[in-house]
Amino acid sequence: MQQLKIGILSRGPRLYSTRRLREAAEQRGHKVKVLNTMKFGMYIEAGRPDLTYYGKQISHYDAVIPRIGTSITFYGTALVRQFEQIGTYCLNTADAIMASRDKLASMQELSSHNIGIAETAFVYEQKDILHAIQAMGGAPVVIKLLSGTQGIGVILAESNKVAEAIIETLSSVKQNVLVQKFVSESKGRDIRAFVVGDRVVAAMRRTAAGQEFRSNVHRGGATQAVDLDPEYERTAVRAAQILNLHVAGVDMLEGKDGPVIMEVNSSPGLEGIEKASGVDIATEIVKYLEEQIRFGNFDVRERLSLTKGYSVTEFTVEPNAQIAGKTISESGLRERDIVILRIVRGPDHIANPKGTRIIEAGDSLLCYGLKSALQSHLPTLVRPKRRKKKKKPASEGSTAATDHPSPNEEKNA
Ligand SMILES: Nc1ncnc2c1ncn2[C@@H]1O[C@H](COP(=O)(O)OP(=O)(O)O)[C@@H](O)[C@H]1O
Ligand SMILES: [Mg+2]
Repeated sequence: MQQLKIGILSRGPRLYSTRRLREAAEQRGHKVKVLNTMKFGMYIEAGRPDLTYYGKQISHYDAVIPRIGTSITFYGTALVRQFEQIGTYCLNTADAIMASRDKLASMQELSSHNIGIAETAFVYEQKDILHAIQAMGGAPVVIKLLSGTQGIGVILAESNKVAEAIIETLSSVKQNVLVQKFVSESKGRDIRAFVVGDRVVAAMRRTAAGQEFRSNVHRGGATQAVDLDPEYERTAVRAAQILNLHVAGVDMLEGKDGPVIMEVNSSPGLEGIEKASGVDIATEIVKYLEEQIRFGNFDVRERLSLTKGYSVTEFTVEPNAQIAGKTISESGLRERDIVILRIVRGPDHIANPKGTRIIEAGDSLLCYGLKSALQSHLPTLVRPKRRKKKKKPASEGSTAATDHPSPNEEKNA
């Protein structure tokens, strides 16, 4: 591996995670600098985006590892975006970091995929609060500030009355809150899975102290190594992929039907989990960065749709479709300027399928091709099935966001 020049964007060179990342990168022969996130200047000019550090033009960096604290999300993500513009590889993108910081936005993004998430509602009107609570089976419920961290801003409300009062109070001081079903069977424990690329490199279980229900280490939670069940592993990787995070700490409760995702962190700490698991996570991150750097900050959707008239799309092969039962070569797709990039068949993913491969009814095809040709394979009007609510709130017209993901989703698991 050639030597890379790596910048770690962090305000704390002495913080455990920053130190470990620097150490690991140096050990693998790279040049590393810890760059103070707050000392940059960003210059935005057509065709010439630029960056200064302590007032001087910054030298070339091959890659940056963002370690953006929640208190500086806005400034930090602007900086990462600027690095993206000047062509520096960023381990997590600005957009992905931004989305993961908002508990509501990330839950919304995850909800259309068939993976377990904590049932969540977000309402604006006072009168809708009770509906929202009732829609998830009534108290106890968990109330969360949209951008809390380390367990601060997470409250357990034992009764509907208390829940309403808390939400009203927080709304009166202009705090947006969401209501979540309390996953009581998790008993103050949760799982933190550390995802790097498409795998979980380490995991730990956190157990809340005493009567506390929050298992955060900052709230006195104890950590312990855990052998992760494959279902938890799959869920964690999938969540990171959906949110487009290459490095992520995925927090899951142990629900009665399996993993329940609570949040996905884009700058997960290394200290607790390296100590609990004994895994050298810093080195895993650096190795991944070495592999990934040649791919750059590549946005496949943007690049592919830049060619006029072309698009990427995914569709399911209907049983009566012309192409069902034919090989890819016989299907005539290639002649119509459509290339199949991937087939999802049940649990299997077939990348770059050969011409001799038979297309089956029920296959989900990810295709690139001429829009006009692709169109004929798409359903005329997509109307996803919505699952019925278990219990209907007292009145009509509630805006509680309690609809469940459609069960036939997760085509690209
Ligand atoms: N819906 C829930 N049911 C049960 N426990 C929860 C729920 N949501 C959060 N918790 C507990 O509270 C802790 C903090 O919640 P989390 O959403 O991760 O906020 P933070 O960003 O502050 O860590 C979790 O680690 C978990 O132990
Ligand atoms: Mg958390």
